[in-house]
Amino acid sequence: MAAPMTKLWKTWVATINPLLRICRQKGYSYRCYSFAKQSIARMLETSPIQDNVKVKGWVRAIRGHRDVIFLHVSDGSCVKPLQVVADPSLCGSDVTYGCCVLVEGCLIESSHPGQTVEVAAHRLQVLGSCDPVEFPFKARKKHSADYIRMYPHLRPRTNTFSSLLRIRSQATSAFHKYFQENGFCQVHTPILTSSDCEGAGEVFHVEPANSHLTQAVQEDSESNHFFKCPTYLNVSGQLHLEAIIGGLTRVYTFGPTFRAENSRGRHHLCEFYMIEAELAFTDSLEDIMQVMEEMVRTTTQTVMASAQEEVQYYLQNTGAEKHRETVEAMTTKQFKRITYTEAISILKSKKNFQFKVEVAAVDLLVPGVGELIGGSLREDSYDALHSRLEAAGEHDMYDWYLDLRKYGSAPHGGFGLGFERYLQYLLGTGNIRDVIPFPRSPGSCKL
Ligand code: 4AD
Ligand code: MG
Repeated sequence: MAAPMTKLWKTWVATINPLLRICRQKGYSYRCYSFAKQSIARMLETSPIQDNVKVKGWVRAIRGHRDVIFLHVSDGSCVKPLQVVADPSLCGSDVTYGCCVLVEGCLIESSHPGQTVEVAAHRLQVLGSCDPVEFPFKARKKHSADYIRMYPHLRPRTNTFSSLLRIRSQATSAFHKYFQENGFCQVHTPILTSSDCEGAGEVFHVEPANSHLTQAVQEDSESNHFFKCPTYLNVSGQLHLEAIIGGLTRVYTFGPTFRAENSRGRHHLCEFYMIEAELAFTDSLEDIMQVMEEMVRTTTQTVMASAQEEVQYYLQNTGAEKHRETVEAMTTKQFKRITYTEAISILKSKKNFQFKVEVAAVDLLVPGVGELIGGSLREDSYDALHSRLEAAGEHDMYDWYLDLRKYGSAPHGGFGLGFERYLQYLLGTGNIRDVIPFPRSPGSCKL
């Protein structure tokens, strides 16, 4: 067996080596053969000259002169477009703002300000045409956020929204990085659950669309339910994380969360992403606050290190340049802590404060958004929890939750951060629907 393998290896090396030598002579790196190397982001970092580059993307700007046409082509890999310079004879009438193109040409040093390299095209093919009259977004027009929001399926074609999506992706990995580097284990908590963790009844009830089961539900016989008990979309992964920390000490989850809140407010969605952490062996809110603060600061620093240009572009494009100061404060200043007694006296001093105050936990409030994080120490005593559940008539339903206090319980606590509200805070975005790919609100779940 060894002999044929050695022969195969030698043949492969004999074939690949001359190819690699040619690549080195031409200044290509080996990795230029991977798809990522062909992205516009990589091309903009590459030193010219490269002949025979291929670019696939969408025309985001087009400027025509008698002798030459300039296109800005974006493939969504970075905030900057690639300038393509083409002879007018290469551009048919179907080369319009918004169309999808394949460009072949040479990557050369650019003599124009604004970019270091550009592509001198020798072939331009329209892969997908775009009627500029019907296309809702117009070249050189600044559309309002309200207008762009009307086209959730098309808005990834705008520079602003595609930038948001990249920042969202960076922020997602920054949160994971924080937790992974600080000893937390990621847990996938269920989406289907029989517990209403928040107890506010703002749950979506789940049943199969299958007709005979639906009828059974209408008869309201619990034994006829698909899961043999009422089942909901999760409103929080907290209770399941509490089960997991019985063996893992530090855990987190980052997933979709559903609330049937009848609110179309600027900070509310029916489906949002929540990052929840749970820590065992903590009996002080200080510990919880410490992690909350460190997580927000470190994550923001990571996002700013990896996507500073992108964030700056987004702030500029949405008219929120001044928000930069807030972002800087997030990464440098200590968060101010006040007791609930102080918070209540501030709130009571407001003339229009009408809410009943019941307080036993910690919230992180931030300007322009309000509540960003909610957390608490959890009830650790079996007896106290049992009597509360019994009083609510729910001790049978939550027998598993009581078990957690029965077998080797540890003092614990945790918190949940609304990911979209975090993005609103980071980017100074007024409406939560502008920071999630497909927003769900009462009366709006079209696609
Ligand atoms: O304060 P909440 O309801 O806390 C919990 O669910 C806890 N069980 C979390 C925990 O301790 N593991 O929600 C946490 C955060 C809020 O502070 C807010 O940022 C966000 O989730 N949030 C929403 N975001 C968008 N739309 C909604 N309808 C939201 N409801 C809460
Ligand atoms: Mg809350």
